[in-house]
Amino acid sequence: MKTRIVLMTLCLGAGLWVGCHPVPQVADAPQVAEVPKPGQLTFEKHCASCHGPTGKGDGYRMFNPPVADLTSAKVYTQLAPQLIRTVHEGRANTAMGTWENVLSDQDIEDVIAYLRSLRKDSDPR
Ligand code: HEC
Repeated sequence: MKTRIVLMTLCLGAGLWVGCHPVPQVADAPQVAEVPKPGQLTFEKHCASCHGPTGKGDGYRMFNPPVADLTSAKVYTQLAPQLIRTVHEGRANTAMGTWENVLSDQDIEDVIAYLRSLRKDSDPR
């Protein structure tokens, strides 16, 4: 008899709890994280294999001279037009190629903006 009452109380309690706490709908879930930043897809597709997923020069491909750390002070202190030119024209005698025939000017601007956001996300040094 006692067990029955306990069980009934438990069931009632559980029922009330579910009733009072609506299960969140999928549509309510925040979707911010899913939207890539401008330039992010370009970076992941064309640059990350050398420059690394976070731009630190730790991609899986190795070169001599080594790949630049795109979050370094040397890079972030350059003005956008300088960086755009480097990406446009590449660097002679290094693995850094010419991108002007692959990426549109808009893509290059976006990817540079993305580099700046990588800097912001990483530890300053
Ligand atoms: C095949 C490997 C490779 C790929 C792919 C590549 N890079 Fe590079 N990148 C390099 C290397 C190596 C350097 C260093 C060149 C040097 O020593 O001056 C470099 C240098 C740079 C620099 C100059 C940094 C500085 O010190 O001024 C920028 C900016 C840059 N890369 C951006 C990009 C972007 C944006 C992409 C994608 C569109 C890209 N790179 C793709 C290998 C690569």
